[in-house]
Amino acid sequence: MQGLPLSFNDVSKAFTIKGEALRVIDGMTLECPAGSFTAILGPSGCGKSTLLRLALALEEDDGGSVKVGGDDPVLARRSGAVGVAFQDAALLPWRTVQDNVRLPFEVLGRTPDRKQIGDLIDLVGLKGFEKAKPGELSGGMRQRVAIARSLVTDPRVLLMDEPFGALDLILRRQMNLELQRIWSAKRPTTLLITHGVDEAVYLADRVVVLSPRPARVLADIDIPFERPRGPELLRDPAFHELCDEIGAHLDSGRGDA
Ligand SMILES: Nc1ncnc2c1ncn2[C@@H]1O[C@H](COP(=O)(O)OP(=O)(O)O)[C@@H](O)[C@H]1O
Ligand SMILES: [Mg+2]
Repeated sequence: MQGLPLSFNDVSKAFTIKGEALRVIDGMTLECPAGSFTAILGPSGCGKSTLLRLALALEEDDGGSVKVGGDDPVLARRSGAVGVAFQDAALLPWRTVQDNVRLPFEVLGRTPDRKQIGDLIDLVGLKGFEKAKPGELSGGMRQRVAIARSLVTDPRVLLMDEPFGALDLILRRQMNLELQRIWSAKRPTTLLITHGVDEAVYLADRVVVLSPRPARVLADIDIPFERPRGPELLRDPAFHELCDEIGAHLDSGRGDA
């Protein structure tokens, strides 16, 4: 199954806090073609998670439009086309690992694919923990359950909000490789929010740098490295040059560069 295009067209969003409007997203336009991999970088609190929640129809925009496969995001989500891994793992604490990973099938009223569930638990390195409850797992393990859950229905759009933030470096590199492998095989249109410039450049076709709140696109950079990308790319001077360039865009947005 091919990815679906995801588009934000002149989208704005404000929250009202104690009667005052807090502008979080300001006229954002971003087109993610079918099967593309976009990484989003931006300072903390700039509106990245809000952008993702708009694509899930968990927030309503107050101007512009968000479309998934040309449709209202709520339709795409209800059809099971969208997989999501939130910043906090957001697991159900009373359910086991396998029952958390199975959840999207239940929400959609579909028969769970047992093999897919087992394969993904294995893939994220949690074999043997199928029957454990979230409270018995470390933060990194819980996050890996959330990653497995985001992939279990073979989504055509994959939205990931700092999914690897709680993992140590070695595990993070491993998960990066796995995500690249899954993306290359199934090509869901992927939007990855991350703090890691190197992670963004390693994984994405394109890195979008956002300004401090309200979020605007400060830079939109194509990542030219061929795939599959292996660990040797991390030692390539061209890789580091691009990371430095993107880091400079992030700093310039802070206004203190
Ligand atoms: N539901 C909400 N109600 C009020 N303010 C919110 C809500 N969600 C987010 N915000 C505020 O919007 C801003 C952007 O939040 P968020 O999108 O989570 O930022 P990021 O993910 O980039 O760190 C923050 O100032 C946050 O406090
Ligand atoms: Mg966030």
